[in-house]
Amino acid sequence: MKSIAVFTSGGDSPGMNACIRAVVRTALHHKLDVMGIRYGYQGMINDDIYRMDAQSVANIIHRGGTILKTARSKQFMTEEGMTKAAANLVKHGIEGIVAIGGDGTFRGALAFQRYCNVPVIGCPGTIDNDLVGTDYTIGFDTAINTVVDAVDKIRDTAESHSRIFVVEVMGRDAGGIALYSGIGVGAEGILIPETKNDLENVMNHLAKSRKSKKSKIIIVAEGDEAGGAFKVSEEISKRFPEVDIRVSILGHIQRGGSPTCMERVNAGRMGYAAVQGLLENRSHEMVGIINKDIVFTPFSQAVKQMIEPDPQLLKMAGIIAS
Ligand code: F6P
Repeated sequence: MKSIAVFTSGGDSPGMNACIRAVVRTALHHKLDVMGIRYGYQGMINDDIYRMDAQSVANIIHRGGTILKTARSKQFMTEEGMTKAAANLVKHGIEGIVAIGGDGTFRGALAFQRYCNVPVIGCPGTIDNDLVGTDYTIGFDTAINTVVDAVDKIRDTAESHSRIFVVEVMGRDAGGIALYSGIGVGAEGILIPETKNDLENVMNHLAKSRKSKKSKIIIVAEGDEAGGAFKVSEEISKRFPEVDIRVSILGHIQRGGSPTCMERVNAGRMGYAAVQGLLENRSHEMVGIINKDIVFTPFSQAVKQMIEPDPQLLKMAGIIAS
């Protein structure tokens, strides 16, 4: 293998730059040429591909976002898009790829196999922490710390006014951000898409405790089946018309910001391992960290299963919230 490429795809996440940096520097260490592909699969189609060197990744380890830009490409999912993308990889002599992204990115790589036989190794880059084969995804640690920082501030004003705040966090299908940040802020209620009766649990909790402690924080994952924060707040107001309630939607601040140290270290380890994986002739596998060890999981498994939240964590969250 003489030349590899790296790209980021799907929703960006803090730590992607640290991962790109590790990929580029590890590849150069092994005397490989490294190409950067901008805007993920869309850049592959548009031939937005450039040569990277050690300096191209200088001073980026602390920056959120991705210097390679990102996109969710619809065109790539067409025969025409994949054919163009494959031709551009051949044109640049690319013999291996490191793809940094989430489940959509790895599903894209699986579909692309019909058009292109270049090996691909994935690094899990998503704030959602929703991939099988890794304890954390790049961006999750920073995102939950961003949420904790914001909700600690909300708690101050909630307490002063004896108000209930319903705070919506990201996670269309996965409740990881809501669960971890909810525990981290001592939320009185946590609503996640993976569990079905959590709104009822919150109502019961409010019925029991609203006289003793008036300020409360309820964390809702955006994809919870009860609806978003406004819907949850409406339901609570219907049942407890006397409560003073406010909604706060944290939105994309969760995707930005300087990555935590843990994020930078994990992202660096995964980027380094991805290049080693390509050199060991691995393909269509995702790098992950499980119990501090680097592991490789086939893309087909990494994206397939729904991740059940840790039942012990759920139980504990319920107990220590009251
Ligand atoms: O997959 C990461 C994520 O941040 C989800 O948590 C969220 O639902 C989604 O991306 C938002 O995507 P977009 O920025 O494209 O609206």
